Amino acid sequence: MDKAKKRVFSAIQPSGTLTIGNYFGALKNHVAMQEDYDCIFSVADLHAITVKQEPEKLYTHTLELYAIFLAVGLDPEKSIIFIQSHVPAHTEFTWLLNCFTQFGELSRMHQFKEKSKTHSDNINAGLFDYPVLMAADILLYNTELVPTGQDQKQHIELARNVAQRVNGIYGDILVVPEPYIPRTGAKITSLQDPSKKMSKSDSNANAFISILDEPDVIIKKFKRAVTDSEALVKFDEENKPGVSNLMNIYSCATGRGIAEIEKEFDGRGYGDFKMAVAQSVVDALSPIQAEYKRIISDKAYMSEKFAVAAERAADIANDTLRRLKEKIGFYI
Ligand code: TRP
Repeated sequence: MDKAKKRVFSAIQPSGTLTIGNYFGALKNHVAMQEDYDCIFSVADLHAITVKQEPEKLYTHTLELYAIFLAVGLDPEKSIIFIQSHVPAHTEFTWLLNCFTQFGELSRMHQFKEKSKTHSDNINAGLFDYPVLMAADILLYNTELVPTGQDQKQHIELARNVAQRVNGIYGDILVVPEPYIPRTGAKITSLQDPSKKMSKSDSNANAFISILDEPDVIIKKFKRAVTDSEALVKFDEENKPGVSNLMNIYSCATGRGIAEIEKEFDGRGYGDFKMAVAQSVVDALSPIQAEYKRIISDKAYMSEKFAVAAERAADIANDTLRRLKEKIGFYI
């Protein structure tokens, strides 16, 4: 790996198919970052079990997410792409960091408070400790930049605080990471309620487009997308959130600018516009879907890639782990 490049770490939980929001908002940027950064990407299966998981589902979702990573263009030759639970240092490092994290600061995490409500029958210690596992993910790899969504900013702030605390006690042994909110990559909202983020866990399947949706399903969902009664393709997130969201999607899928899109659909109705958006998404996803089908049916290929990646990840992680253990005073 090129030492002159900054280290980037990010992870996604294997909790079912990803949406075009995940693709345009995160994965597509991760793919581009591989050129300029020294990237490590992980399937966060340890994080996934903080909520109830059916074993078969977790197993298939993990493989599927790994295949999606490769299908969108994360490249195992350029980046380290591994499965979190394959590198035991993550759990061990979490324990060490736990002892430098306060109960009070974990109690203030928004995501913990929200999930305590949505999963009130299972407020387990892992759910509470989730941000420390995430700090371990990040800090093990001397990460400088963490590309994520706005919703993870508080967790990255915690990772920074823990790193600074440890450094304050033992000297500068951990790199203090920065959040990285990419310049490009719009926020994609629900097709049914544009005030909400597009989410794969939406109870209404018409609200989201999965990366793996078939062309006819994509077209049907865009036809049903919520717009307004004005019949004017104009970007105005406040007054025309549905249309603006479709414009964002079209912009992401085609690379065209908003002004250009307004001009393109000047004087044309929403029917035309929706079909064009749908077709652009079908076209953007079709090579990914073809690649996905090829990869998911070749388990041997994937196994080889994630085994090699886990070894490379473990080399870096174990070094950080050993350094902290030494400082703490463990007899190594
Ligand atoms: N918690 C993140 C999410 O749900 C996933 C994640 C796990 C992550 N470990 C990470 C993201 C480390 C960035 C860095 O989106």
